[in-house]
Amino acid sequence: MAEYRIAVVVGSLRRESHNRCLANAVKRLGPKGFSFQHLRIDDLPPYNQDDDATPAEPVKRLKREIAEADGLLFVTPEYNRSVPGVLKNAIDHASRPYGENAWAGKPASVIGASIGSTGTSMAQQHLRNVLAYLDVPTLAQPEVFLHVREGLFDADGNIASESTRKFLQGWMDRYVEWVRKLVG
Ligand SMILES: Cc1cc2nc3c(=O)[nH]c(=O)nc-3n(C[C@H](O)[C@H](O)[C@H](O)COP(=O)(O)O)c2cc1C
Repeated sequence: MAEYRIAVVVGSLRRESHNRCLANAVKRLGPKGFSFQHLRIDDLPPYNQDDDATPAEPVKRLKREIAEADGLLFVTPEYNRSVPGVLKNAIDHASRPYGENAWAGKPASVIGASIGSTGTSMAQQHLRNVLAYLDVPTLAQPEVFLHVREGLFDADGNIASESTRKFLQGWMDRYVEWVRKLVG
């Protein structure tokens, strides 16, 4: 049985999402004793504070799955220099009702891939700001801003370039060491 459960949140709903490919590829770099579960966010209703007392089933599921996780991994594109609305919607849902923030205290890392040369850096900064408010400790370094180019992934969905794979392995090693330290 895995000792550490990491909940993975992908900020894109697109079928051919580069960020979902990235999430699947980096999961394979995790060591023994770590397991990665994707959180579904595409069936959440638009957040409405009126529903706090009577949350929809997908909202209850989201909060339950976060509660079961030891750590968090956000893999997101950048939309108009910020995070996609679907990701912010999921974050808002699980942060409420007031005083019942499911994200609090779970160590997180934020990574992303973009066809733009800044590789999601602005979205990640916005997300880090939100996570700080939600009391989510976030791994500072290494930052992972991936510029999507043809051939980033091989036919099996792994990172094709050796140097990028090594860089991501270094990031994963830091992340899991940090989760172990925080979670115990
Ligand atoms: C609504 C929208 C806004 C976007 N804004 C940005 C942006 O601000 N910066 C950027 O680098 N790419 C931007 N892009 C391009 C995305 O990086 C690109 O579509 C990427 O493939 C999305 O991630 P995904 O493949 O995981 O869906 C935008 C795309 C969309 C659809």
